[in-house]
Amino acid sequence: MAENLFSWLDERLGLTAIYDTVLDRSVPKVNWWFTLGSASAFLFALQAVTGIFLTVYYVPSPDVAYQSIEYIMNEVQFGWLIRGIHHWGASLMVIIVFVHMLRTFFYGAYKFPRELTWLTGVVLLISTLGMGFTGYLLPWNQRAYWATTVGTEIAGTVPFIGDFIERVLRGGPDLSAVTLARFFAVHIWVLPLVIALLIGVHIYMVVKLGISHIPSEDE
Ligand code: HEM
Repeated sequence: MAENLFSWLDERLGLTAIYDTVLDRSVPKVNWWFTLGSASAFLFALQAVTGIFLTVYYVPSPDVAYQSIEYIMNEVQFGWLIRGIHHWGASLMVIIVFVHMLRTFFYGAYKFPRELTWLTGVVLLISTLGMGFTGYLLPWNQRAYWATTVGTEIAGTVPFIGDFIERVLRGGPDLSAVTLARFFAVHIWVLPLVIALLIGVHIYMVVKLGISHIPSEDE
């Protein structure tokens, strides 16, 4: 019965071909450093799942944002666990993505024909840092408020267009409800969409081009 169902679906969707191309491809002899790309993808999925749970109770308004976090931590069943995973997962993701980048750099995996894999990776790293920056403000406590004040001030020191960038980030001259609303929108919509899309392109290229081998001394 299950076999029949599978071959019915396989005929229509080409499941075996997808399995062979994506999972059953040959890879050169590699080491544990090569697992960090998949670890980054796993952490992104973990952040997405825990983040969706958090949005059930989190309210992005200066009046109640802090209380809604307190509520998640103290009243919601396992709220402390979900928030804890999201909090530590964020730091871990930044570290793992960064070390994955160092691995591809030191093994020369960014060279022809993988330049575009590297370039999409650069945008993935910047977007991951952006997730950290926008997420930090959301609890709307003293630390979040002042960290974002300083962070947006730093952006404001860019020559010529700094003032403009600072105003766009803050949604006005100072931090306000508008800042919180736009950081929330960027944190839960814009950046996750960019990251999900780019992970798709990044992994498509990894599958299409194959994993690079560990360079030998005379290469
Ligand atoms: C969310 C972030 C990222 C995810 C989910 C991700 C995912 C992956 C995966 C699954 C692989 C194949 C396995 C491996 O080599 O580890 C890979 C390979 C690669 N990644 Fe990433 N990556 C990310 C960020 C980056 C960054 C920041 C860079 C560099 C700036 C980068 C550059 C590369 C390159 C050049 C390869 C090809 C490696 C090879 O063929 O040996 N990636 N990535």
